[in-house]
Amino acid sequence: TKVWKHSTIIHEQNLAIEEAAALLRDQQVVAFPTETVYGLGADATSELAVQRIFDAKGRPSDNPLIVHVGDRKQVEQLVTDIPPVAKQLMDKFWPGPLTLVFPSNHAAAENVTAGLDTVAIRMPSDPIALEILLKTDRPLAAPSANRSGRPSPTDADHVIQDLDGRIAGIVDGGPTGVGVESTVVDCTTEIPVILRPGGVTKEDLQQVVPNVMVDPALANQEGQPKSPGMKYTHYAPESPLWLVEGDDEFFKSQLHQLIEDEQRVAVIASRELAGQLDHDNVTSCGSRERLSEVAGHLYSALRYYKKAEIDIILCESFSEKGVGAAIMNRLRKAATQKITQY
Ligand code: TXA
Ligand code: MG
Repeated sequence: TKVWKHSTIIHEQNLAIEEAAALLRDQQVVAFPTETVYGLGADATSELAVQRIFDAKGRPSDNPLIVHVGDRKQVEQLVTDIPPVAKQLMDKFWPGPLTLVFPSNHAAAENVTAGLDTVAIRMPSDPIALEILLKTDRPLAAPSANRSGRPSPTDADHVIQDLDGRIAGIVDGGPTGVGVESTVVDCTTEIPVILRPGGVTKEDLQQVVPNVMVDPALANQEGQPKSPGMKYTHYAPESPLWLVEGDDEFFKSQLHQLIEDEQRVAVIASRELAGQLDHDNVTSCGSRERLSEVAGHLYSALRYYKKAEIDIILCESFSEKGVGAAIMNRLRKAATQKITQY
């Protein structure tokens, strides 16, 4: 695996991007930064290239991929129709952390869409991602660049941990900003539906589409989620994650109980709670008053503790306002147990 280091990217960015684009045109897979998480890219029109993504990640083949584009013309080449609401959302939020589901014209390889009649597309805002897309001059399928089931990568080191030796290259652009994946919105229905909460919040979407709905499968965990990826175990740290819903006193009582029971416990918490704890293994994700900061540090916190050293990771719950909806969606999926006060 060739790694183009961040320091090199700054000084010789064009060369790294040229080489990455050449590999992608040659049907190889290359990891690159986006503003959300690192993506594992491959030519979305090539069945062979896309198969290499599934092989490298160990990803189930019934879970479709997001196609990334560098300009609007590439969207037209992939869809039968651009619904008016999709046009409005593209105008407002692209480039950025919003994926839209369109009716597919099947120009994307069959394994990108897992045989569905729809195709998910987004235009990332990260300048390196955009440059790679424009230089490659093809739409690129790109799931998060982690082994399937692991926390998504927000740093090139996370990609190296998971995929070194399994892919052709990694473009290191430093840490990503948003930290959680894009929001997925289905635009093929009468009323658009949020299938996955992410970097663009429901409140943001309501500015443009006041009647946007949330997939009921997200709320009740019952039934078949429409976004196929939502049914798999995801984002799991090495040790079991216990998610605590309650006030700070309740959290402290749970922590003390586990310590008394001689469990080796690590904590993931806000700065506010972390500051109240007299304990060795505490990672703060940022202030609970600034959820975008928490989102930015979440996945690296989930990757931090090694199973040989820690029996249980005790994690604070956050507000579901704004990007908090995405944070809590990921934590609920990562958790093996929920401990609720009320
Ligand atoms: O921020 C992101 O979206 C990152 C970066 C790399 O762009 N990518 C990402 O891709 O998160 P991935 O493959 O890890 O997640 C794709 C999600 C899955 O939940 C999948 O089920 C859903 O999008 N999806 C893909 N195609 C779909 C479709 N046609 N209909 C409904 N959901 C779809
Ligand atoms: Mg993923």
